Amino acid sequence: MDTKILKPSKHCFMLAKNLIINNQLVAFPTETVYGLGANALSDQAVEKIFIAKGRPQDNPLILHVGRKSDIEKYVKNITPAHKKLIAKFMPGPISIVFDKADNVSSLACAGGSTVAVRIPKNKIARRFINECNLPICAPSANTSKRPSPTCANHVYNDLNQKIELIIDGGNTSVGIESTVVKVENNTIFILREGKINKKMLERATHLSVVSVLNTNKIPQSPGTKYAHYVPLCEMIVVKNNIVSNSIKLYENILKTGKKPIIFCSQKNAKFYKNKNFLVLGKNSVEASHNLFGYLRRVEKNYDAIIAEYFDNGGMVEGLFNRMIKAAGGKIV
Ligand code: TXA
Ligand code: MG
Repeated sequence: MDTKILKPSKHCFMLAKNLIINNQLVAFPTETVYGLGANALSDQAVEKIFIAKGRPQDNPLILHVGRKSDIEKYVKNITPAHKKLIAKFMPGPISIVFDKADNVSSLACAGGSTVAVRIPKNKIARRFINECNLPICAPSANTSKRPSPTCANHVYNDLNQKIELIIDGGNTSVGIESTVVKVENNTIFILREGKINKKMLERATHLSVVSVLNTNKIPQSPGTKYAHYVPLCEMIVVKNNIVSNSIKLYENILKTGKKPIIFCSQKNAKFYKNKNFLVLGKNSVEASHNLFGYLRRVEKNYDAIIAEYFDNGGMVEGLFNRMIKAAGGKIV
């Protein structure tokens, strides 16, 4: 079975709905990255996600719904803090962890008592979910450990012949996955950084917000312990003395006979004129939009990526977290 790629249309949504109802998998665009969707009420459907991706079964999936009024069907114990988060940030690039209701597949929640819920802002995603009239659990639509997909072709390259259909909504806008948050004792814990950052959460809710990447107060999102976003070639992040360290690294890699490339900010491009480089963007927001696609673009043609740290724009933490993961922790 060759995987079909279809632009959104009545026919495409009908086909997608039929597949989901029959416990098959459908990849679809969201504003963050492409998701690999299945009926979240069926263990049989959910199991196919773990198999197609090669994903460890102790890593829970996010439940996607199309409307705010659907949330209460699949979760328990919605608190005033949850309500604030829903009112301010949904639909959008945020996943909120709740106590799970009994109808949600326990496989989707990795056997745990909680479920992360998200309402995508992307209209194609919401139409797909609403047409199915089912909650859709969806991880990023990549093979486990690979960079998340930001266009239909990335999904096809990873999952061709493993899934029936990809709904092609073009390039995703945000480029990295949703912020995952959990509320405990009126404190918001950020379990995974994303476009909705600490400052935005504080301003909108007036609650205290803690990023678990900077604390060991409560366990992180299960998924954050795994290798992630790994390109086929080596990667190193440069955080200190950026230009001089990037150049030093570049020259050292060249000396070993390997081919390096620098991922840089727009303002630093002038320092790398006689070198291989790609401009990720002028700030962390643009760089987040481009990162995963650029990793996939260069990984086969270069031996090493030297990625500059970005300290400007609203997505500094989310971008840095993805870069460090992709680099397997290598940082200078
Ligand atoms: O933007 C996104 O969130 C994308 C799109 C498709 O919606 N989805 C996505 O899913 O990134 P995935 O499976 O690749 O990442 C889900 C993350 C993992 O780190 C997982 O451990 C965490 O969310 N997660 C899911 N359910 C959780 C729960 N009940 N408690 C804590 N963390 C949870
Ligand atoms: Mg993922």
